[in-house]
Amino acid sequence: MSVFTIDRDKCDSCGVCSAECPAGIILIKEPGALPSLARGGEGMCINCGHCVAVCPTGALYHERMKPEECAPISKRLLPTPEQVEHLMKSRRSIRVYKEKPVPRETLAKLIDIARYAPSGGNIQPVRWLVIEDREEVKRLSGLAMDAMRSMIKETPGLDDVSYLGLTVSASDRGIDVIMRGAPHLIVVHARTYMGLSQVDCSIALTYLELAAYSMGLGACWNGIFQMYTTIYPPVMEALQLPEGHQCLGAMMIGYPKYRYRRIPLRKEPKVVWR
Ligand SMILES: Cc1cc2nc3c(=O)[nH]c(=O)nc-3n(C[C@H](O)[C@H](O)[C@H](O)COP(=O)(O)O)c2cc1C
Repeated sequence: MSVFTIDRDKCDSCGVCSAECPAGIILIKEPGALPSLARGGEGMCINCGHCVAVCPTGALYHERMKPEECAPISKRLLPTPEQVEHLMKSRRSIRVYKEKPVPRETLAKLIDIARYAPSGGNIQPVRWLVIEDREEVKRLSGLAMDAMRSMIKETPGLDDVSYLGLTVSASDRGIDVIMRGAPHLIVVHARTYMGLSQVDCSIALTYLELAAYSMGLGACWNGIFQMYTTIYPPVMEALQLPEGHQCLGAMMIGYPKYRYRRIPLRKEPKVVWR
């Protein structure tokens, strides 16, 4: 099978597939002709499926996806701009959670949504590790605490001039400032690919965080934990990621204990208009 085939009975040569193809490999050679693949186009397709998704008549069949496999877009289900604005502005980083665990199906649903996030070249490099077990989340937190303690030990005085001292003393009082008592931790990882995998993982977790909020869940990025995966080997080893993968994001998730009532103020945007 070629990269794509055309159902001649359905195609009206409108050229929309050609106009939208990001790789520019779908050609309409003359008005009224069927779309055809540019020479050498086989290796250039990024499998984004835009040609299938945009075809008004469902005439284009990509080797990796048929029109009937792709869910139709329902205008009725799209939120209004006002709803999107409210969702995005009222999302908060949640640091106090209920004891109740999140069902696996719900976590899986969130990941299913987040996999639709954009990725550079449609590589979709993001891999997911869900730490479902609360005790394992605590253990990972303990490992990051070990890292902090060893840094303080190696550099006396560091605890006075950084957040380390406060974090360690909170931990001594039984307060988990790293995982915040969250029941679960979601880790995204990937092979680094021209620096873009970090961006891809960040966008995927951002999608996930917003989707989680829309479902009544709360989440919080865990940059501290991610940082320790790079500087303290026991933390990275505990994740057991595949060879060559890096931890490119971590997010706590659970049911929020408290409800936010107001949207806090943020800096005015600094914008240059030209
Ligand atoms: C990349 C990144 C890393 C973060 N790391 C942590 C973290 O380790 N611990 C934490 O409590 N919050 C962390 N946060 C949450 C920020 O503190 C939070 O987004 C910020 O204070 C604004 O609050 P809001 O998310 O409720 O708007 C992180 C956020 C981002 C985007």
